[in-house]
Amino acid sequence: MNLAQRDSQIIWHPYTQMQTAGLPLPIVKANGALLTDAAGKTYIDAVSSWWVTLHGHCHPYIRERIKQQLAQLDHVIFAGFTHEPAVTLAENLLRLLPPNQQRIFYSDNGSTAVEVALKMAFQYWDNLKIPKNKIIAFRESYHGDTFGAMSVSSRSAFTRPFNQYLFEVLFIDVPVAGKEAVCLEQLQEHLQRPDVAAFIFEPLVLGTAGMVMYAPEILDELLQLCRQHQIFTIADEVMTGFGRTGKNFATDYLQHAPDIFCLSKGLTGGTMALGVTTCTAEIYNGFLSQESAKTFFHGHSYTANPIACTAGIASYELLVAPESQEKISQIAAQHQAFQNQLQTHPAVKEVRQTGTILAVEFSTGPTSYFSNVRDLLYNFALERGVLLRPLGNIIYILPPYCITPAQLQAVYAVIEEMADLITRITNNES
Ligand SMILES: Cc1ncc(COP(=O)(O)O)c(C=O)c1O
Repeated sequence: MNLAQRDSQIIWHPYTQMQTAGLPLPIVKANGALLTDAAGKTYIDAVSSWWVTLHGHCHPYIRERIKQQLAQLDHVIFAGFTHEPAVTLAENLLRLLPPNQQRIFYSDNGSTAVEVALKMAFQYWDNLKIPKNKIIAFRESYHGDTFGAMSVSSRSAFTRPFNQYLFEVLFIDVPVAGKEAVCLEQLQEHLQRPDVAAFIFEPLVLGTAGMVMYAPEILDELLQLCRQHQIFTIADEVMTGFGRTGKNFATDYLQHAPDIFCLSKGLTGGTMALGVTTCTAEIYNGFLSQESAKTFFHGHSYTANPIACTAGIASYELLVAPESQEKISQIAAQHQAFQNQLQTHPAVKEVRQTGTILAVEFSTGPTSYFSNVRDLLYNFALERGVLLRPLGNIIYILPPYCITPAQLQAVYAVIEEMADLITRITNNES
């Protein structure tokens, strides 16, 4: 039996209908923007392997730092103990975040970073004995797969079997161009309630919704309103963080700093699972007490794992180096030129771009994760040596920053071929 067959006997893959899915593709190595399969074929990882790979696969600097750390300290319980990598990474992150961010709480991934943020917000008000237990969120948002994160996410086919177990959330429309006033109005209405604890949002780009983009100006207005009503604002920068939108954080485009940040994915450069939730001194101080009941009772076995934190430090050092910042600007400029070229194509409904994120929405049927066009486009790209993971009829590029202009051009060429294919299919059907 080959690897894919052995896998198919015993493994259950994420987001995969195991009955109808083909055999998984065994990948044997990765380097830079390339993945190599067992037959030696290479694929450009245009989606950074679920948006995590920041500087490229198997980056020699991150690899070396991890190796050194592994020889020094692999892991230690993080209650009652500490270590250099956890403290240094926290110092680095606070240097990058707005000055109102004062405390770092470690967890394991994006979903747990969101769980921690929600629990911080709920318990802060509970510690103060103020009954605030409602969360406001964007209707099409995605914040993760654990129950709290699902609760504040869009009610969709993903959550349907669990909807009855999710807590009630006050949803508002995403303020895409033309919808700003409606969104503002809905927020203002919810803010009349006395029981709102926090507003959680994906800043500027809603990833899983289909790389839906909206302007910083309206987000600033929403944050200002929340501040006026003493409602915490939670920026879920799990996807947008670490340069994806052209600045270190999407919220760097704003005037108002959020109260809480959720970070993961690119945090370790895509090498180790790690989540971070950061908060203001005000929130942290709300848990300080002689009463043990006001403690933040949350933690994971691998909290602040030293190897993961070391990967985070190495990735941070690479990110702030001028070369990475230049690469980010260069990818954004190349995207912009491609956007100008592609947006008049008859098969293209819209091309959207924020920094290094480019999304192309094709004019085909409804935008659904289950539409056939998704599988067609996925396989089409894979056959041509490009890993793209369409969200229905939306294709997006979110590349590692090491991607070369030629590799990016090769990805664009595949997207253009896709557009031509869609035009041919549409013409044949009509
Ligand atoms: C904005 C956002 N928040 C949270 C998550 C959940 O992160 P994880 O998959 O690491 O649990 C994701 C994952 O895609 C995300 O895009």
